[in-house]
Amino acid sequence: MINSPLMTVMVDAVRKAARGLKRDFGEVENLQVSRKGPGNFVSAADKRAEAVLREALMKARPGYSLVMEEGGAIEGPDKTHTWHVDPLDGTTNFLHGIPHFCISVGLEREGHIVAGVIYDPIKDELFIAERGKGAFLNNRRLRVSGRSDLADALVAYGSPYLGRGNHPRLLKELGTVMAVTGGVRRYGSAALDLAYVACGRVDLYWERDLQTWDLAAGLILVREAGGFASSADGGPDALAARSVACGNEGLHRDLIALLRKANQ
Ligand code: IPD
Ligand code: CA
Ligand code: CA
Ligand code: CA
Repeated sequence: MINSPLMTVMVDAVRKAARGLKRDFGEVENLQVSRKGPGNFVSAADKRAEAVLREALMKARPGYSLVMEEGGAIEGPDKTHTWHVDPLDGTTNFLHGIPHFCISVGLEREGHIVAGVIYDPIKDELFIAERGKGAFLNNRRLRVSGRSDLADALVAYGSPYLGRGNHPRLLKELGTVMAVTGGVRRYGSAALDLAYVACGRVDLYWERDLQTWDLAAGLILVREAGGFASSADGGPDALAARSVACGNEGLHRDLIALLRKANQ
């Protein structure tokens, strides 16, 4: 468990926003929905949850900057701290009534993620991590999976929205990974994909064309759970590259090699 004032702020904010999300999920057919781009939707639930998070985080840490999926960036006087906020990660699942989505909040200090909270309100699963203090799921310490053989590995991936990103490239990568691993899954929430690697449910995960709010919280979860996370090209800074490949040390190395092979 992590009993820091920072974690209390983050968990309180996320739990408060989650109450609204859960309510809205129960009446999803009545929600106002608009399209941000092809295949890319936003609903009143995303916006309401974001407003709750923004208010709670700004109240608790007034100087910090914010980068939010729906409302954009707010620069605070404190340029060294930035919240990366995804009020509803997995909007497509949510709008289809699929109970697999979450809230994701990460805190960046001078270029490093120092804390992350991911909450799945339907399963009541709270994933938290703080730099140097470990990663936890509902008070249970997390560790990435110990598997070493690609043939046994379950691999999550994500695909870009309609019209965005390079689908033929993804298909090449997917084909290469699928041919040698135990199975692949597309769950539809990048933050939960990262959290599932951190808790060892999934052995590996990779995705391109992400945003900092998809990645920030999950990256620290994976690392604090003893995992390795790089950009999908193997570079050290997944957040800056806005892409990720992660898993335990050995499988991560194998995945990077497979992705390189697919891109030759
Ligand atoms: C999306 C989900 C999805 C990923 C997309 C994200 P949103 O976030 O995380 O799994 O493949 O790239 O944009 O829009 O539901 O918050
Ligand atoms: Ca979205
Ligand atoms: Ca997202
Ligand atoms: Ca979102």
